[in-house]
Amino acid sequence: MVDDLLEQLRELEKEGAGSIATADGAEELERLRVDLLGRKGRLTGILRGLGGLSPEERPRVGAEANRVKEVLSARIDERKAACEVAAAPEAHVDLTLPGRARWRGGVHPVTLVVDEICDIFRDLGFSRVRGHEVETVEYNFVKLNTPLDHPAVDMHDTFYLGESLLLRTHTSPVQARVMEQFRPPVRVVVPGMVFRRDPFDASHAPGFEQLEGLAVDEGITFVDFKATISEFARRFFGPTTKTRFRPSFFPFTEPSAEVDVSCQLCGGAGCSACKRTGWMEIGGAGMVDPAVFEAVGYDPERYTGFAFGLGPARIAMQRYGIPDIRLLYENDVRFLEQFV
Ligand code: PHE
Repeated sequence: MVDDLLEQLRELEKEGAGSIATADGAEELERLRVDLLGRKGRLTGILRGLGGLSPEERPRVGAEANRVKEVLSARIDERKAACEVAAAPEAHVDLTLPGRARWRGGVHPVTLVVDEICDIFRDLGFSRVRGHEVETVEYNFVKLNTPLDHPAVDMHDTFYLGESLLLRTHTSPVQARVMEQFRPPVRVVVPGMVFRRDPFDASHAPGFEQLEGLAVDEGITFVDFKATISEFARRFFGPTTKTRFRPSFFPFTEPSAEVDVSCQLCGGAGCSACKRTGWMEIGGAGMVDPAVFEAVGYDPERYTGFAFGLGPARIAMQRYGIPDIRLLYENDVRFLEQFV
């Protein structure tokens, strides 16, 4: 008799659980609750059999009946909650969804370019160093073979901070500072801000980045210079990139050159980005003028070297298709957050 009742309870638990699991909606579940556990339900029916048991046997069956009742009741509640979520998902938090990532800031596109350039030159044996944004007239011009009555001083139209201090107009003064501090061989790259009294328009900014490079040793020739720049261009812009050197003039290099690379957008065919030339200028360069070696105390008979000044902002604009240089300096988060 006891076994019979326990068997019936097991059966009720199994069947009940099955019906609950497939029940659809609160109404059906309430109906099941009444059928299974209600006053006239199946559990009550089974418990009628308790009357035929001895007082010792009753508690065993009673305890099992309570357990089954609790289990089924809990199943009904769970299923009901699940049906509600399915019916109105927006009203519930789905804890299995990944959280929303907070924007922690991006890396400025010019910084991305500067870091990449420095990484390439590091592989070529160049160290990364820094200079001063506030410079002396001496280092900005005089030590670079640019006497103060030289037209280049005017051309730069400098921000002076007094008689002899200014915001540097280029990163080249760091050439002199590095050479005064270290004996050859010297190989450095120097990223940093430079300042000129230029209008703030689509292609000019009064402050912008430059990246200076300097290599000095015995026996360095123009071939080393061309090979280094060409190798850099292939690594940075891609293996099919061509490099071109145009004659130019800087007081602190002789000979001097403007460095162009084949346009990244049209591959050299000519497009609006390269003004139909197929080329894009990346900076000025040349062999270090012996007068500069003299100014910093290097023996110009013994040492030769090359120097270059790249424009990372221009390069970033070309790489990321940025049409207006002002976007780089206005710190509009909607623009900056595109770069990571
Ligand atoms: N300092 C030059 C400029 O600002 C660029 C340059 C650097 C040229 C090094 C030659 C060598 O235009």
